[in-house]
Amino acid sequence: MHDRTSLPSWKKLENHALDMKSQHMSELFKQNPKRFEQFSIQLAPFLLDYSKNLISASTMELLFNLAKECDVEAWREKMFSGERINSTEDRAVLHTALRNRSETPIMLDGKDINIDVRLALDKMKTFSEKVRQGLWSGYSGKRITDVVNIGVGGSNLGPQMVTEALDQYSDNSVNVHYVSNVDGTQIANVLRPLNPEKVLFIVSSKTFTTTETMTNARTAMKWLVSSSFDQSAIAQHFVAVSSNKKNATEFGIAEENIFDMWDWVGGRFSLWSAIGLPIAIDLGFERFIELLEGAHEIDQHFCNTPLAENAPVILALLSVWNCTFLGAQSQAILPYDQSLHMLSAYLQQAEMESNGKSVSWDGDSISYPTVPSIWGELGINGQHAFYQYLHQSNNVVPADFIGSVESVTPVQGHHETLMANFFAQTQALMQGVDEAQVRADLKAKGRTQDYIDKVAPHKVHKGNRPTNTILMKRISPRSLGSLIAMYEHKIFVQGIILQICSFDQWGVELGKGLANNIQEELSSGNISELHDSSTTGLINFYQSYTK
Ligand code: F6P
Repeated sequence: MHDRTSLPSWKKLENHALDMKSQHMSELFKQNPKRFEQFSIQLAPFLLDYSKNLISASTMELLFNLAKECDVEAWREKMFSGERINSTEDRAVLHTALRNRSETPIMLDGKDINIDVRLALDKMKTFSEKVRQGLWSGYSGKRITDVVNIGVGGSNLGPQMVTEALDQYSDNSVNVHYVSNVDGTQIANVLRPLNPEKVLFIVSSKTFTTTETMTNARTAMKWLVSSSFDQSAIAQHFVAVSSNKKNATEFGIAEENIFDMWDWVGGRFSLWSAIGLPIAIDLGFERFIELLEGAHEIDQHFCNTPLAENAPVILALLSVWNCTFLGAQSQAILPYDQSLHMLSAYLQQAEMESNGKSVSWDGDSISYPTVPSIWGELGINGQHAFYQYLHQSNNVVPADFIGSVESVTPVQGHHETLMANFFAQTQALMQGVDEAQVRADLKAKGRTQDYIDKVAPHKVHKGNRPTNTILMKRISPRSLGSLIAMYEHKIFVQGIILQICSFDQWGVELGKGLANNIQEELSSGNISELHDSSTTGLINFYQSYTK
């Protein structure tokens, strides 16, 4: 396999980057009044404006050539057709099959997996409706009022992000809670106000081995049994979502209460599977299907649209441009919609666990910068916290601004203020303000020359800071499904261009293994002498207080 750096478009992009670094976006806007039309696309659920990037028509042409030279279209076909592109784990990558709303069969190992997917959806439908309608009762015959999802990472972030984003669509027939942290504070706080007779636990774990989830699930079981005084109550209060039926049944969960998952669905891409059960219970199964439909629409767009008009492809190429060629090291996700307050945490896992790697799929060290660290917060809160850094630090942080034309909770006067800030910030980041302008403004305000000399350099904003704007029409199950799917495919394309296997996560294993060993040492009191002096010192300090 060719090293990407030897591709003709790669070399051209390196040279082109040197040229573009000397340009300013505000000049590019002045030179081309049609820049917005040229660098934006409209899809049914949203508008993507990428004109506020340090790009020209030549940049995009070179980037699309890069995508072609990297065989993005052929890789896309491989993914959708079930080839085992997760090469280090020898697995297919078919989360798109979970939301395949067409009748087209998806064959894997000689079997149409649509059949399994439909059966799993039927089981989710029946179960979620029973719970919502009060037909699934607890051990004392009372209806379930609260569902607690126990899971971490992909078994938590997706469903929690979605249920919180779509809160306005919930009829609140059941309250949904999430426990992900093994810090006992979280589960204690969640359980304290709840009545065990009315609580249903969903233990969500693809592997059913994750220590944090198993620990929380055991605590939940003890809590239930200490109230019911009856082990058999577990069958009415515990269901699991897992691809490891053996472990789930050994854990004590009735076989008929286990919802399937498959090894061809990565944890961070799994909210479309039964991992999304809390979504179906909270919003109703029809809403869950709308979410799948929204994602399927973007799958269609991704598969059938030429690269130059393909939203996920464009987002991926811009990330490669900003990070690999222009040197940005982090990227901010800035939603201007309260309902998307967990989006940056969700995308942090999606992108960083997928592409935060430094070895190519051939096992070679990657010589070029790959993906940024992803971070973010609701935009308005960020404005009063870290936007100072975005505007004036020496580090350029490309940012995705995500907002909605229509608020799901209109309160008079609020949305306009919110959106005025949204529009102003991307403009300020792009335009900046130079020293001559700062001085002229201060002079016009009647400031003394001494004051102007002292303050002017501090008020300069260099601008030229790249942003993408995703302007949703309105947050709904369908549009949210589309938004998430767009980012999923962006991550896939990024991985292909950078030669990263996006669907494994070996980097989480080392720490997990060491934690297991140390936990055994803490329980037995036999601390290994092989630890480094820092780890030994920390364990000794901890033990001196806990003994
Ligand atoms: O953090 C590593 C990870 O394996 C994630 O990829 C996954 O989403 C999470 O742990 C939870 O795993 P499981 O669903 O198997 O408990």
